[in-house]
Amino acid sequence: MVFETRFLNDRVVVAVGDIARQQVDAIVNAANSSLLGGGGVDGAIHRVGGPRILEECREIRRGQYPKGLPPGKAVITTAGNLPARHVIHTVGPVYGEHNGADAELLAACYEQSLKLATTHSLTSIAFPAISTGAYRYPRAEAAAIASQSVRQFLENDETLREVRLIFFSESDMKMFTKHQEFLKR
Ligand code: APR
Repeated sequence: MVFETRFLNDRVVVAVGDIARQQVDAIVNAANSSLLGGGGVDGAIHRVGGPRILEECREIRRGQYPKGLPPGKAVITTAGNLPARHVIHTVGPVYGEHNGADAELLAACYEQSLKLATTHSLTSIAFPAISTGAYRYPRAEAAAIASQSVRQFLENDETLREVRLIFFSESDMKMFTKHQEFLKR
């Protein structure tokens, strides 16, 4: 069982695990635009994190995003009872439903989440494989986009010390590792 692989001078950790169990400054939620919960990652985070997360999401809906969080954007809340300190909620693209802007929107999810973490002076963050579940993004394509976005961000950042990419199964992690482009110029 391969437990983890590191890239980019060990700043990136690719591992199998449960996003809700990650002990980092912020975990990223693969949310939907309503910010009111769902299944998969979203369900696990709200289930383990408890009602305070939803309360803060509701506040965001009343204030900054009355029409919902658009795909590619990110917001931050408490992590409630989770071992992490914050949850960064981002909405991935539904594959094939954005007139060809899927890749750009998926890249934006990673960039906006990383940017939000650094503006809050956070030094560690954990991502699930955004959009590759209910939103049906092909894993190989998503791997190239996610790894390129993380690499490009880290090239110009010194705040983040650890970026984890967490996969729910070993086969998902292997698929990512096969298609990642951390070293590609
Ligand atoms: N930890 C880590 N990864 C997980 C977990 C978990 N607890 N649960 C699921 N995953 C993996 C899935 O296997 C998939 O590879 O996370 C990836 C993203 O899957 P989804 O959670 O379905 O997210 P997404 O594809 O972005 O769809 C978002 O689903 O849950 C709803 O409310 C959410 O409507 C939104 C949609």
